[in-house]
Amino acid sequence: MIEVRNLSKAYGVYKAVDDISFSVQEGEIVGFLGPNGAGKTTTIRILTCFMPATSGSASVAGFDVLTQSMDVRRCVGYLPESVPLYPEMRVREDLNFRGKLHGLNPGERAAAITRVADRCWLGEVIDRPIGHLSKGYRQRVGLADALLHNPKILILDEPTVGLDPTQIRETRSLIRDLAREHTVMLSSHILPEVEATCQRIIIINRGRLVASGTPAELRTRVAGEGKLIAEVKTAPQEALAAVKGLVGVQDAHADAVDGWVRVQVSAQRDVREDIARLAAEKRWPLRELRREIATLEDFFVKIVAGTREEREA
Ligand SMILES: Nc1ncnc2c1ncn2[C@@H]1O[C@H](COP(=O)(O)OP(=O)(O)OP(=O)(O)O)[C@@H](O)[C@H]1O
Ligand SMILES: [Mg+2]
Repeated sequence: MIEVRNLSKAYGVYKAVDDISFSVQEGEIVGFLGPNGAGKTTTIRILTCFMPATSGSASVAGFDVLTQSMDVRRCVGYLPESVPLYPEMRVREDLNFRGKLHGLNPGERAAAITRVADRCWLGEVIDRPIGHLSKGYRQRVGLADALLHNPKILILDEPTVGLDPTQIRETRSLIRDLAREHTVMLSSHILPEVEATCQRIIIINRGRLVASGTPAELRTRVAGEGKLIAEVKTAPQEALAAVKGLVGVQDAHADAVDGWVRVQVSAQRDVREDIARLAAEKRWPLRELRREIATLEDFFVKIVAGTREEREA
């Protein structure tokens, strides 16, 4: 549905996007991540035909973004980073105006407006001037604009920015809902959101693609099978020696914490059951046994720091 091949974009001598390639399959929800200035918006603006690339190519729904931009626009709903809206227009007028731009006839426009106003919770404000709306409501108008012509593909640049927590949840579930019929690519800085919404994640940093995979794959890459924390009551050396003797344990450390020994274990597999058995056999009191799951944030921080070090080296 989206094919990006060796895409680059330079602003003067500065390469904002540097030779990236990726694809998004039909029906996927893909998260596009990266720190501020990574090149997300630049890539998205190329894909939505707002800006030409310096080199490389991109196609959306089989149409080339450079030479077939009218076809691309017909297939894509785009929510820009900052939504350009006319403050004096009422919400209904805005939607009607955009409907005309998409070439919808009056009957189609009325139906489309009812559909998107309902989906984006705009009922209450439909007859108010956009300039009087709060930031979150303006964001919803932007989303409604993107959905108006019922496009096959949605490209959303930070869709939940400025929304309150309840709206963030509802938007997240709206996006998941939309993904049943649409292909979705969204950029975001809210990692738990991306983790909850997206099937696949693409991370870029300083214009380069640095990782891609499912949230679970990326988490595993940062932590292996994960770390374990066990808190037992015994001599630290005894605890450490016994835990290190378990099959699959790579490393372990012990610290004293208010009269208990906290053992941190890195292992190739989940050894919680083994540790519980060990504690029972040795008659150690055991007050905690938990697995520390790496988050996507851990991965993100690690990969961004890693590319920074590489550049500096
Ligand atoms: N019109 C422009 N002229 C010159 N440089 C630009 C222009 N637009 C963007 N840039 C630069 O290109 C780089 C990438 O910007 P971009 O907006 O794509 O980042 P982003 O990943 O969307 O960041 P953010 O998370 O802050 O939205 C930045 O260094 C930015 O300063
Ligand atoms: Mg951006």
